[in-house]
Amino acid sequence: MDGNGRWAKSLGQSRQYGHQVGSSRVYEIFKACTELGCRTATFFAMSSENMNRNEAEISFISQLLKSSINEHFSDLIDNKIKFKVIGDLSSLPNKILEIIQHAENETKNFSAYNLNIAYNYGGHWDIINAANLALLNHKQINYETLCKYLSTSENYPDLIVRTGGYKRLSNFMLWQAAYSEFQFLDVLWPDISKNDIESIFHNYENTQRKFGLVK
Ligand code: FPP
Repeated sequence: MDGNGRWAKSLGQSRQYGHQVGSSRVYEIFKACTELGCRTATFFAMSSENMNRNEAEISFISQLLKSSINEHFSDLIDNKIKFKVIGDLSSLPNKILEIIQHAENETKNFSAYNLNIAYNYGGHWDIINAANLALLNHKQINYETLCKYLSTSENYPDLIVRTGGYKRLSNFMLWQAAYSEFQFLDVLWPDISKNDIESIFHNYENTQRKFGLVK
């Protein structure tokens, strides 16, 4: 979800305002994705590296995480959406952790849809975390044991979309992205629309995925 800062700047507003409007788009865009047949989406809210930004911005985004959960809790329940926050959550205040855990617990048995937020998430962190968890139970790590302990388990993204004009992965799902399709949009995240989602899905459907095979 890149581009909140530039979007706000273009309006003469603060970065915080950009994040606030950006966060208000998350559930709406998730719904648009599900209407087109997507069952799982992960929104990259904060990378491990974003945590080096100034304290006020980090704290503001963590509060947005809390208020988004509170605002959409009943939507998660009504629409049977399993909710999860992935990433290293150890730096979050207890009050926010409790709200996350409550939403995760109350939705854990749903299987129709999955809405994940990646917060203080990095692909490097995910792989190292999975390796450490795997080593607690196994003498040696192989492909299956490592996948089992990744924050996504073995559900890999078919498609990764980055808004904001840059063409890079910025430490997102490095392991899981092995055969993902990529789409990079110039649109700044707060401006993303249902039309953009429709065109992303249309492009995806017209891509032949080969997974290294000859077709
Ligand atoms: C990247 O834009 C965006 C972020 C680092 C934060 C994304 C956060 C949200 C959309 C709000 C939080 C949402 C939830 C659900 C917690 P940038 O700040 O790097 O923008 P720029 O490249 O234009 O400066």
